[in-house]
Amino acid sequence: MEHSRFYYHVSLILSISGFVFPVMVGSIGINYGQIANNLPTPDNVIPLVKSIGATKVKLYDADPRVLKAFANTGVEFIVGLGNEYLSKMRDPDKAQAWVKANVQAYLPATKITCITIGNEILTFNDTSLTDNLLPAMQGIQTALVNLGLDKQVSVTTAHSLAVLEVSFPPSAGSFRKDLVGSITPILNFHAKTNSPFLINAYPFFAFKSNPKQVSLDFVLFQPNQGVVDPKSNFHYDNMLFAQIDAVYSALASLGYSKLPVHISETGWPSKGDEDEVGATLENAKKYNGNLFKTICQRKGTPMRPNTDLNIYVFALFNENMKPGPTSERNYGLFKPDGSPAYLLGINGTDAISTNSTPTTATTTTTTPAPRSPESTSTGYLSISAAVKQAIQSNCFRFVHVWIYWKMEQLQRPTTVSIAVVELPGL
Ligand SMILES: *[C@@H]1O[C@H](CO)[C@@H](O)[C@H](O)[C@H]1NC(C)=O
Ligand SMILES: *[C@@H]1O[C@H](CO)[C@@H](O)[C@H](O)[C@H]1NC(C)=O
Repeated sequence: MEHSRFYYHVSLILSISGFVFPVMVGSIGINYGQIANNLPTPDNVIPLVKSIGATKVKLYDADPRVLKAFANTGVEFIVGLGNEYLSKMRDPDKAQAWVKANVQAYLPATKITCITIGNEILTFNDTSLTDNLLPAMQGIQTALVNLGLDKQVSVTTAHSLAVLEVSFPPSAGSFRKDLVGSITPILNFHAKTNSPFLINAYPFFAFKSNPKQVSLDFVLFQPNQGVVDPKSNFHYDNMLFAQIDAVYSALASLGYSKLPVHISETGWPSKGDEDEVGATLENAKKYNGNLFKTICQRKGTPMRPNTDLNIYVFALFNENMKPGPTSERNYGLFKPDGSPAYLLGINGTDAISTNSTPTTATTTTTTPAPRSPESTSTGYLSISAAVKQAIQSNCFRFVHVWIYWKMEQLQRPTTVSIAVVELPGL
């Protein structure tokens, strides 16, 4: 009884505020890598994903445990087809069998919207892998068409930023000349199938390889003078935006200026080897904290100011079995036990309790102008000080959307946790 009344009131608020802000989603994606032997079970990962306000998850495989656990959560999924399966997907029967078992089987309960075929294939410099990439993408696309799923699931592949030969200044961005021949037909595939171009972009690598030349503030989205692109005259105050615009330039140079670019990975390690300059807890916190802030402000890059950033943060967990330098095992926002790897300033543990009135809460979520904290405390929803702070900031839309999403999924409407982004520097 108590519960259903609560649910009714919250639904009411949601319909009112949803009306004021129809579909304002500056949403956050997260990479859920699992090269580890100590991660929580997928059921226990759901609250972690929600606690950071992520509405999209990218997998590197199509782990059935994860896809089952996230059924009816509303979370959108990108699933991955591993590099090792590429050659098999030339065979239409095998491609169809893969889609049936790894995608169709979970729809519509689990919202799979995209399949990435391999990861960073072109920069392996392995001709047989490269040669199999487009046929595999086509094989999977054909299978989706045959199964009637191509309208809801798209096919793409994720590239390393190293596919670029020139990435600075952004206006001069161009692809490695030796890759143009293999990349052009892939771009054509994207244009034909309306699928996005995916890039993994790490300002960390640029800083690490050149710490004396590259400004740390510029790579960490901290206040800095920035740089002006001499050709476009655009001003860049962070490296990620410069990298993204370099990709847009490279695409335009091949005649594909209209393709959407999504950032399939970006992040910063909280720990590294001695020679990995910049891999510290403090820098990871700044990079990811500022990144979340940038995403929720719904800023575009100088070349695409009105296009939402579509970013998947790398990664959910520190992954203890990843090979390579120490940094590789320390990109996680969370430790394997589910505790935050560092205080990002994102706090999803605050609960909304049921002792105030709908009108006040609605006003709160729909009023962008700063208000005094006292004025929002007596509504139907009692919102914590941290939430108020976020609501008063540019993040209010993000908070709003998150409440909306969470309520939709609510099965036992008792408490609602909402993601709070406490803006660094506020
Ligand atoms: C791949 O080839 C490019 C161009 O020849 C080279 O710069 C790059 O280092 C190579 N990458 C690997 C992983 O071998
Ligand atoms: C989140 O907020 C709660 C209550 O305000 C606090 O106890 C907790 O330490 C915070 N967690 C993080 C990660 O900031």
